Amino acid sequence: MEKKEDNMNKNLLKMSDLSEKEVYSLIERALELKKGGYPKKRDDLFVANLFFENSTRTKHSFEVAEKKLKLNVINFSASSSSINKGESLADTVKTLESIGCDIFVIRHSEDEYYKNLDTNAKIINAGDGRGEHPSQCLLDLMTMYENFGKIKGLKVVIVGDIKNSRVARSNYNVLTRLGAEVKFVCPEIFKDTTLGEVVNFDDILENVDVLMMLRVQHERHDGKEKFDKEEYHKNFGLTKERYNKLKKEAIIMHPAPVNRGVEIDSELVESEKSKIFTQMTNGMYMREAILEKIIKDNNL
Ligand code: CP
Repeated sequence: MEKKEDNMNKNLLKMSDLSEKEVYSLIERALELKKGGYPKKRDDLFVANLFFENSTRTKHSFEVAEKKLKLNVINFSASSSSINKGESLADTVKTLESIGCDIFVIRHSEDEYYKNLDTNAKIINAGDGRGEHPSQCLLDLMTMYENFGKIKGLKVVIVGDIKNSRVARSNYNVLTRLGAEVKFVCPEIFKDTTLGEVVNFDDILENVDVLMMLRVQHERHDGKEKFDKEEYHKNFGLTKERYNKLKKEAIIMHPAPVNRGVEIDSELVESEKSKIFTQMTNGMYMREAILEKIIKDNNL
């Protein structure tokens, strides 16, 4: 997609595609939709959902959002498509564009897969390799804003497999721009030196506003990482003991799927401070807001 560089801001590929103003207007619009706001319906447009990696939340909340906007939805199945005959992602997108798809929602294991696309259709990145996951990040921001009424000044600690997390990368990018303080807790093997300060878990519990637990992404490990579930839970998991040290107003987030008993004690998933299921609900409204914006910005 190199030749469409001037048009990058009309897609949603990474969080740096959005200005601070655009981030806040997406949050406001998603909250308005959650309160019963009327979705801007478009039954003349076609959206194709291309998921080359597993997904429950992102795929189906995009699908619900698309259906609420009355968009025509093509749920592409990689396993029964001509990808299995050797067709590339770029040719798949060109093919679906040729038959009338206007917008693509794509998840792919390759970092920045979108750079290889040659299309005038609009791309919403639903996760690229170890790159970014902008719609997850926006629903995370919505959840923080809904809870605290602000982003600026929040103390956010992201815990877990930072190196392999597109959620950590997207959130770090935008939270720091919006004036939040972001720190990380992780074992040495999951460290990403391009991101911010790594701190000791038990030193930060009393001061944190948002504790964002991440899934351990075994599918991105090369088998060299030595990993013991019990040891990880003891050192980097949210245990009841750690939960009890959090301040009253603190919230717990997790992009899910959750490995109960590994990154978080199973009972804490439904605890008072947990916003994990609220994040999923918010995700559908945020994805409606994203689709509305892509349609409007591109005069579709
Ligand atoms: N959080 C998230 O991206 O979940 P899925 O992999 O189920 O889409």
